[in-house]
Amino acid sequence: MLSVDVIAKLGVTLIALNDNFIQCTYLDNYNMKKILVTYNMFRIGYADLMERYDVTFPPDGVESFTYEEVLGMIDQYDAIQSMFNFPVDKQLLDAGTKLQVVSNYAAGFDNIDIKYATERGIQVTNTPDPVTEPTADQAMGLILDVSRRITELDRKLRQGRVKVGLLENLGHSLAGSTLGIIGMGRIGQALARRAIASGMKIVYYNRSRIAPQLEELYQAQYLPISELLHCSDVVSINTPHTAETHHLIGTEELKAMKSTAIIINTARGPILDEYALSNALKEGEIWGAGLDVFEFGHYPIPELLEMDNVVLNPHNGTQTIEVRNEMAYYVSRNIINFFEGIEPIARVNDINKTEGK
Ligand code: GLV
Repeated sequence: MLSVDVIAKLGVTLIALNDNFIQCTYLDNYNMKKILVTYNMFRIGYADLMERYDVTFPPDGVESFTYEEVLGMIDQYDAIQSMFNFPVDKQLLDAGTKLQVVSNYAAGFDNIDIKYATERGIQVTNTPDPVTEPTADQAMGLILDVSRRITELDRKLRQGRVKVGLLENLGHSLAGSTLGIIGMGRIGQALARRAIASGMKIVYYNRSRIAPQLEELYQAQYLPISELLHCSDVVSINTPHTAETHHLIGTEELKAMKSTAIIINTARGPILDEYALSNALKEGEIWGAGLDVFEFGHYPIPELLEMDNVVLNPHNGTQTIEVRNEMAYYVSRNIINFFEGIEPIARVNDINKTEGK
C-alpha cells in the first residue's frame, strides 16, 4: 500500500471522506504539459499558454537559457519554444525524450534539424505571418537608406565631415529603377508592394515561378538569377537559408551586378559571402549594401564597419514591440493548437498527424 506522501508526490489530491476512506482525484496539473521557453520575452503574448500549461521561462534578468542548460532539462518538457538562433540539433532532439513540439520564434528555421525532427515525429512550427510586413519594411528602409545615403550623411553631418553642394552627396533614384528580388515568398512579395509604391519595376528569382495572377499583380518578371543580377539596380535577398542558398551570392554573382547597384540582405547572413561582398565594395564592383543579418553571428566582418556605403543593422527586421508580442502569441498558439488537436497555425514539417500523441 502506498503511503500518503508517495501518493501526493504522484500528483493526486487526497480528499478524506471519512476515517476509513480516502478519495483520490488527480491534481489539475498532474498531466499538465510542460513547455520550455528558451528566451525571456514580454509575457503578454504567452498568456494563453501560461493559462493552460506549466511554462518555464529563463529566470528574471537572464536573457536566455544556454544550449547546455536546455540540453540538461529538455527531457522534462513536452514542447520547446526556440529562438531563430538557438540550435535545435540532433543531440537536443534526442535528449528531448518527451518532446512533441518545437515552436520556433521565427519564420526561418535553419536553426533546427527538420529532417531529424520529422524522423522522430516531432512537430516543428514557425511564425511566418507576424514577420512578413516588418521584415519587408526593414528591407525597404535599407533600400531607401543606402540609395539616398541617409545614415552615411547623418553620420558625416554629426562628425562635421559633410560637404554641402548641389553635386555633393548624390545618391540614386528609386523611381524607374529595377528591384531584383531573390526569393519571392511572402516577404519578397511584401517588399514588392512597397517598391512598387516607390516607382520601382520588379524582377524576381524563385525556386519556382509564382502564380500568373501574382506576377500580374506585381508586374513582376521571372528571371534566372544571372539575368536578375545583371539588370537590377537593387538586389534584395529574401530567401531562406538552406544548403542550396548558402553563399548563393558570392564573388561571381557580385561581379555580375551593375557597378551602380546595391545589395540588401534581411534574410540570413550566410546566403551572402561577406568577404566577397567586402571585396566587391572595395573594388567598386557594386555601389553599396544594406545588411540586417551577418554571416558570422551578431556582427559583420570588421572590413564592412569601415565602409561608408554600407548600412548595418543588428537583425532588427522584426524588432518592434507589436511584432514581439504577435510572435509570442503565434508560438503559443502553435503549441496550444497542436496539443488541442487543432491544426497549428504554421507547420514546418509533416509528421502525418493533426493532434498530439
Ligand atoms: C527572423 O529572422 C525570422 O526568421 O523570423
